[in-house]
Amino acid sequence: MPKYFYITTYGCQMNVHESEKIAGILSELGFEPCNDINDSDIAVFNTCCIRENAENHAYGNIGMLKKLKEKNKNLIIAVGGCLTQQMGKADVLHKKFPYVDIIFGTHNLGNLKQLILKKQNQKKAVIEIEDSEGKICENERPLRTSYPNAWLNITYGCNNFCSYCIVPYVRGRERSRRSEDIIKEAEELVASGYKEITLLGQNVNSFANGTDDISFPELLNRIAAIDGKFRLRFMTSHPKDFSEELAKAIAASDKICKAVHLPVQSGSNAVLKAMNRKYTAEDYLKKVEILRRYVPDCAITTDLIVGFPNETDEDFEDTLKLVKQVGFASAFTFVYSRREGTVAANMDGQIPEDVSKSRIMKLIELVNSLTREQTVKYAGKSVEILCEDFDKKRGLYLGRDEYGRMAYFPSDKNVIGEFVNVKINSANGVSLTGEKVD
Ligand code: 5AD
Ligand code: SF4
Repeated sequence: MPKYFYITTYGCQMNVHESEKIAGILSELGFEPCNDINDSDIAVFNTCCIRENAENHAYGNIGMLKKLKEKNKNLIIAVGGCLTQQMGKADVLHKKFPYVDIIFGTHNLGNLKQLILKKQNQKKAVIEIEDSEGKICENERPLRTSYPNAWLNITYGCNNFCSYCIVPYVRGRERSRRSEDIIKEAEELVASGYKEITLLGQNVNSFANGTDDISFPELLNRIAAIDGKFRLRFMTSHPKDFSEELAKAIAASDKICKAVHLPVQSGSNAVLKAMNRKYTAEDYLKKVEILRRYVPDCAITTDLIVGFPNETDEDFEDTLKLVKQVGFASAFTFVYSRREGTVAANMDGQIPEDVSKSRIMKLIELVNSLTREQTVKYAGKSVEILCEDFDKKRGLYLGRDEYGRMAYFPSDKNVIGEFVNVKINSANGVSLTGEKVD
């Protein structure tokens, strides 16, 4: 009888890729993936604690498993990810959900196999949360789930300590993989048919900082030099470390996508200072200017937070102003979420929920109108799409162009994983629809 696993992932791409690594470990142990948690022999929750709603979402889902565990006593429930790594949270989880079998931290992925084997031999819960920064493990064999795209970690952790952010506390200090290991993994991915590689790190621009390894732009150049047709992306870039050398690298290669995610967070200098972002709105605009000097058509996307402590109406207006000035291709917008243990959590001047709500609505409206403005320009144009998937509901294939814009199109044959030229007929909202052309 085969044994099955089911993984629920919360949060960012970093976690999505981490779940692929967990899947790799589980398949080495003889488990196979399944599509329904009710059929699983091991259910893993890879949690996120960056905002309160991600945390609550995980609590809700883990809570619902009590019944399943009562029905299937042999089911192993494992909880990992950022949430478990938060100070004291492993104990909270254990008390709240005593039927959870394994609780493991973000630094314990390397010995997840041992933890599962241990649990299979003992009745009581296995809880292992390491405080250390976590060793970099080079013999992981992720079970990738996002063909033709592949995630590739280049750094782990973060040293920036933005005052609102829990990541440095739960992911530890920044550490980089060796460039030769990264390049080898990229070569293997291209050789095995992946068509898009996204380099992952909390702050990719500070790759190899303080070591004798090559710089991030040089790493991009070397990966882009691998033979074969593929796209290269990276995320996330901290504006303070975004360099002219990086803009030049993007301009010089047709493999490096002209799309940069450059989180600004706020357009107000007072807020940026309180956030400990280490740049002003003017510095940010200067970086954008440098990027556009070398890559004029670059799609710039961003992250924005509203309702940071003491944010005034004027501060918020500065954010709207900066968003218009840059003309972001799209943006992730967040209401500030108070995270225990961060510097901002103890600041006076927390913003009432209704004020934050009304600000985020305005911001979303502005961001959407900018996105629409840019989408409309696509009508009648031909774009090269890397086909990623088939949308059963719409009966259409879908994929992205190098700028990250999603397009839908019909096709008689399966073209997932192929580069397809698509003539855009309709450009409504955020997505495009068109037809294949030769
Ligand atoms: N509240 C709201 N948004 C946050 N982010 C990080 N921490 C918080 C928080 N406490 C957002 C930032 C970051 C993105 C990944 O999540 O915008 O860039
Ligand atoms: Fe968090 Fe700032 Fe690090 Fe990004 S750069 S992970 S926002 S501390």
